[in-house]
Amino acid sequence: MSATQSDALVFFGASGDLAYKKVFPAIQHLIKNGHLDAPIVGVAKSGWSLSQLVSRARDSLATHGGVDEKAFAKLLERLRYVDGDYNDPATFAQLKQAIGSAKRPLHYLAIPPSLFGAVARHLAESGCAQDARIVVEKPFGRDGASAHELNRILLERFDESRIFRIDHYVGKEPVLNILCFRFANRFIEPIWNRDCVESVRITMAESFGVEGRGGFYEEAGAIRDVVQNHLLQVVAMLAMEPPGSNSPDGVRDEKVKVLHAIRPIEREDVVRGQYHGYRAEHGVAADSTVETFAAVRLEVDSWRWAGVPFLIRAGKRLAKTITEVVVQFHSPPQRFFATQPLDHSHNYMRFQFNPEELIAMGAVVRKEGAEDEIRPVELIASHQPVDEVPPYARLLQAAMAGDSSLFSRADIVEAQWKIVDPVLGDASPIHFYDPGGWGPPEAEYLLGKGDRK
Ligand code: BG6
Repeated sequence: MSATQSDALVFFGASGDLAYKKVFPAIQHLIKNGHLDAPIVGVAKSGWSLSQLVSRARDSLATHGGVDEKAFAKLLERLRYVDGDYNDPATFAQLKQAIGSAKRPLHYLAIPPSLFGAVARHLAESGCAQDARIVVEKPFGRDGASAHELNRILLERFDESRIFRIDHYVGKEPVLNILCFRFANRFIEPIWNRDCVESVRITMAESFGVEGRGGFYEEAGAIRDVVQNHLLQVVAMLAMEPPGSNSPDGVRDEKVKVLHAIRPIEREDVVRGQYHGYRAEHGVAADSTVETFAAVRLEVDSWRWAGVPFLIRAGKRLAKTITEVVVQFHSPPQRFFATQPLDHSHNYMRFQFNPEELIAMGAVVRKEGAEDEIRPVELIASHQPVDEVPPYARLLQAAMAGDSSLFSRADIVEAQWKIVDPVLGDASPIHFYDPGGWGPPEAEYLLGKGDRK
């Protein structure tokens, strides 16, 4: 273990949804691959015993990827459990004991942001924060003001290099590949600007609904849930200038610069939608106006991107599950075949993150045997099934090693909120849509024609 490696993993919210869906599978993955060899302490307020946590862990793994008996046996050797209220100093006294001789624990707060402040304070007061790292989940705050306040609270007890703000999109292989593809290939740079690019379309469509997370969704909505964080991170990676260095701050400095260049969204540049049936979901108000769909038009006010619309569409209960970016190029200046209409929709770059990883370039070639017809083709740069390494495993491993490059920084999250702040809540009307389509028709007007489905 290196001198800077965290020597215990503590996760708050051990009985919660996130632990069940993401944290246990990530822990098993790390143990299985020899990347986690430290005490693991689950903390929750559920009145559970260690054996209840163990059966929850087994259940979680059985549902999410399968139990690996060898790795699970090691998990059991290392797993400890602390049950108690996050506002009670006694919980943290127990935690101190559970950590034992560890000197640089990592505390992962898989809990609602309203509890971050109390936990950070008690960690500090109980002596558990010394030389420790802290990982906090998204959503980081509810708006710019609350994010700023959270940053203040965390920075009072942990310096920035010890705070790891999770956005699991930044830990996804295909998302990371945007940076590699852009900056490790010479041929991209000359075409990656307003002279060649007509629009950038980002789609995050999910065919499923809120899946039992109605209560959470009522507090969030699509803009807070995925636009403010995941999709603005993707925009930043697509639009940023080349980083001076590939260091964590080299990349993050460029991200924050481009985020500052994005104008706060105006009301007429957003369409919010809600699927029919959402109001009947568990935990959802009968008259809810929370959006399960958002279409957003962004402008990046920079020399490189001025006038190029960045069009985002994200929603639940849509026609299919797909997350992809299409960078559409302008038409060629001339028709090649006199009889062919000038259709440039085949000239694009496509980055797909889900359900498969794909980087492809759209082009046209002659249609074999035809006099003057073209045939669209895709040049595939990379095409593979979705990453084997769960993003949470990659992120936890990086945080335990103290590598902050895959995490958000205080200024980045605040810049992201500044962009969406004007359109949060009921700032714009809600439009209803039928499940199984592409959201409310109003979104088509905003996104314009030629939207790829
Ligand atoms: C989460 C959101 O952050 O990301 C969910 O809360 C969303 O609503 C999920 O479904 C999508 O992540 P992924 O990795 O499945 O594309």
